[in-house]
Amino acid sequence: MIAPVRTAIFPVAGLGTRFLPATKATPKELLPVLDTPLIQYAIDEAQAAGIERMVFVSHPSKRAIERHVMDDARLRYELQSRGKSDLAEELAEAAFSRIDDDVVFTMQNEPLGLGHAVLCARDHVLPGAVAVILPDDLIRGEGCLGEMIDAYKRNNAGHMVATMTVPREETKKYGILSVLSQDGSVLLADGMVEKPDPADAPSLDAVVGRYVLDASIFEALETQTPGAGGEIQLTDAISRGAGTVGLAGFRFSGERFDCGSKAGMLKATLSLAEDDPECSEVLDEFTLSRGKALAA
Ligand code: UTP
Repeated sequence: MIAPVRTAIFPVAGLGTRFLPATKATPKELLPVLDTPLIQYAIDEAQAAGIERMVFVSHPSKRAIERHVMDDARLRYELQSRGKSDLAEELAEAAFSRIDDDVVFTMQNEPLGLGHAVLCARDHVLPGAVAVILPDDLIRGEGCLGEMIDAYKRNNAGHMVATMTVPREETKKYGILSVLSQDGSVLLADGMVEKPDPADAPSLDAVVGRYVLDASIFEALETQTPGAGGEIQLTDAISRGAGTVGLAGFRFSGERFDCGSKAGMLKATLSLAEDDPECSEVLDEFTLSRGKALAA
């Protein structure tokens, strides 16, 4: 019997350099897609997957994330006293309470890499495998983490990473899985290569920001030497575990948007706008007027 995945780690301490100047004062994870910050989509996905404890690895300069995530009694009181009780209620419902919810904030004081950020969560996780969610990868659809945890349990996987197929010319942007065999949406792998040249890519299965990792990942991270960019890379530590605990890729069913980049953020916004009655009309009007202007 495989133990349930009880903890989700949210590494949110990075510098967000690809999205400067927007991220100079606003954490990348709080940038909104329509009216909802990226971190909220990630939290909703973890909740839908049945996660018990959420561990946020943040940075002292990014306290605004904690303010978004946790209940704000003062704001609630102000809204109530202005007759906006419904709004107060709505906000309180979406936020975590320090008493009723199992939420931990811990700090990564220096952005030493994603692997280092995950290691910072070590003392705060519940026993068993852990999930890691990168909030800047927004995945629409059936709830990627939930699907992945189901597959993890069925396949007795050691480390499992979310994967999607990319065009060969884009392998340089991703960690690429070295695939041995495939069973439905699960890929058995013996390692992964960080950002390979198209000619050297072992497959076209790129790793994106959802992981379910055997608890041995923390030991591996502790002895992990800096890799690409001088950072402690999570992918390096996962790769080392391939020979011991095993490694699998999971082809999720949803659509992923890289909201750490301008183009990805725009695509995510358009995708959500299409499904939002308030926005879809605006989008249609815009597309129509652009079409007419082009035709003229
Ligand atoms: P990214 O590499 O996409 O984020 O890491 P970044 O470093 O903030 O962004 P760029 O590349 O400079 O634009 C993915 C996730 O890992 C976190 C980030 O906050 C983001 O949520 N992260 C990254 C950490 O928590 N600590 C780190 O040292 C690096």
